[in-house]
Amino acid sequence: MIRVAAVGDIHMGPDSEGLLRPAFDTLPDCADLLLLAGDLTRHGTPEEARVVAREVRDLPVPVVAVLGNHDHHDEQPEKVTAVLRDAGVTVLEGEATVVECAGGRLGIAGTKGFGGGFVGRSAGEFGEPVMKEFVRTTRRSADSLHAALKELGEKGCTARVALTHFSPVADTLAGEPPEIHPFLGSYLLAEAIDTAGADLAVHGHAHLGSEHGMTAGGVRVRNVAQPVIRRAFNVYQLGAD
Ligand SMILES: [Fe+2]
Ligand SMILES: [Fe+2]
Repeated sequence: MIRVAAVGDIHMGPDSEGLLRPAFDTLPDCADLLLLAGDLTRHGTPEEARVVAREVRDLPVPVVAVLGNHDHHDEQPEKVTAVLRDAGVTVLEGEATVVECAGGRLGIAGTKGFGGGFVGRSAGEFGEPVMKEFVRTTRRSADSLHAALKELGEKGCTARVALTHFSPVADTLAGEPPEIHPFLGSYLLAEAIDTAGADLAVHGHAHLGSEHGMTAGGVRVRNVAQPVIRRAFNVYQLGAD
């Protein structure tokens, strides 16, 4: 069995320094690794990223992250990524990584994702260039997620997780105003997950949403935004023997 701890939307800043570390220090007792589902900072500044870095530096379990939209706000996502990597975090954007756990090999495919909405009510690649670019941004992200999950499938992992910031399904947005669903996720991410295969999909971003959902293909989806799970992290079990 592999135990996956996950949280998103920790939105750290100078005044939250040290808040999560005591809980993170208990991770080895209950989890094999920690996934961070984006929105780790408030405005994506290097200063805020350094607060996150100090929170997770030298944790006794591997930490794998994707960035969120807030981590892009200061338009220095490369810098935020570099600060986190310097603290030992594996930051994924359209890539895959494998973590060797006592219960097997866990593959993680990660991308921030983007919006567009869900089947029947989604944006299309039509009209103004900026509209086409909006949808193409999501499509590129979904394509990279698909490729990363497929790569992990070929590597023969015990279990695979799709880690995103934006949601692949509408289920886990329950509680959010329907008017903003197109800005919270895209069905293209779920299509990628279902066609490439995964055992769990973890996302954040929807602070008012719900924890539990499922893709059309039957992959369980968990919204781990901290305001939703109301704790430092949740733990999910995969590949039970
Ligand atoms: Fe957030
Ligand atoms: Fe977000």
